[in-house]
Amino acid sequence: MSKKTITTFNSVFEQDVYQGLTDFPKHLSSKYFYDARGDKLFQEIMKLPEYYLTNSELEILQAHKEAITGHFSSAGETFNLIELGAGDGTKTRILLKYLQENKISFQYLPIDISANVLEELTTSLTSELPGLAVRPVQGTYFESLEEICRLEQERKVILFLGSNIGNLLHPQAVNFLLQVQEVMSGNDLFLVGFDQKKDPQQILDAYNDPTGVTEAFNKNILTRINRELGGDFNVDNFRHWEVYDPETGTAKSYLVSKQAQEVNISDLNLKVNFKAWETIHTEISQKYDDEIVAWLAGKAGLGIVDVFSDSKELFKNYIFKKLP
Ligand code: AVJ
Repeated sequence: MSKKTITTFNSVFEQDVYQGLTDFPKHLSSKYFYDARGDKLFQEIMKLPEYYLTNSELEILQAHKEAITGHFSSAGETFNLIELGAGDGTKTRILLKYLQENKISFQYLPIDISANVLEELTTSLTSELPGLAVRPVQGTYFESLEEICRLEQERKVILFLGSNIGNLLHPQAVNFLLQVQEVMSGNDLFLVGFDQKKDPQQILDAYNDPTGVTEAFNKNILTRINRELGGDFNVDNFRHWEVYDPETGTAKSYLVSKQAQEVNISDLNLKVNFKAWETIHTEISQKYDDEIVAWLAGKAGLGIVDVFSDSKELFKNYIFKKLP
């Protein structure tokens, strides 16, 4: 109260952690889950039987690859297949393989912030699908998209799979879609995965698996603060907690302090006090239905061209175009 300290930050991560842990209620952004260990843990999550999203989207791409890629290439014209946050490319491989087998002319431009991820992806793709034109683009989504637009004239087909959009609240999601819409031309397409509203129990199970992988993934943000910012979090003093509101379709992840405790983060010159059962909100995983998707798309100046679903209607992929 009386003494004002001026804190300077060396990175956005430092600033975000400082702000999130001095705010009330406390929060940290799920975008910081994904360091090398977080990437591995998310790969493990995608293999969990409870995490239905991956298999549902794989089923969609496998079952509808002909119809989906039919939208991509018209009259044998070549196109650029651009993927936002490519990861290990397991799902995209289905489309890439099908396009290649059918001798459709295109090049694949995976965008990722991690040079490491891109390198592994490119190596495995060139050995698995020889002859495939892969041009990795390292950087943030929008800077990279703008760069690609400057360099390429051909039609763009942009992929954003895995319900990654679900980490955004609706206003942020509209803003995200709008930013993509702004780099699109009239002929371009945008394919996005949206996880659907369903039995609330199934959603809770997907984000609270019995083997504890999701718990470790959520707690990885504390481990990362310990390693990168000199923190002394004892992760065992926190509980992973998931809630799902079937009315809004929002799943939320928390870390709940099991006891009163003080945590020191030396690089931030910060002591953080937790009361017993105080929370840190770490992630939202939004669930959708057709009406909400149409509303978000409309607000972003996008129209729905086609929709593809898995057999159980757990997940859907929507193809958007820019509205005139
Ligand atoms: C990568 C954002 C799609 O929200 O379903 C998985 C991340 N979090 N289990 C999701 C996640 C907990 C995932 N996304």
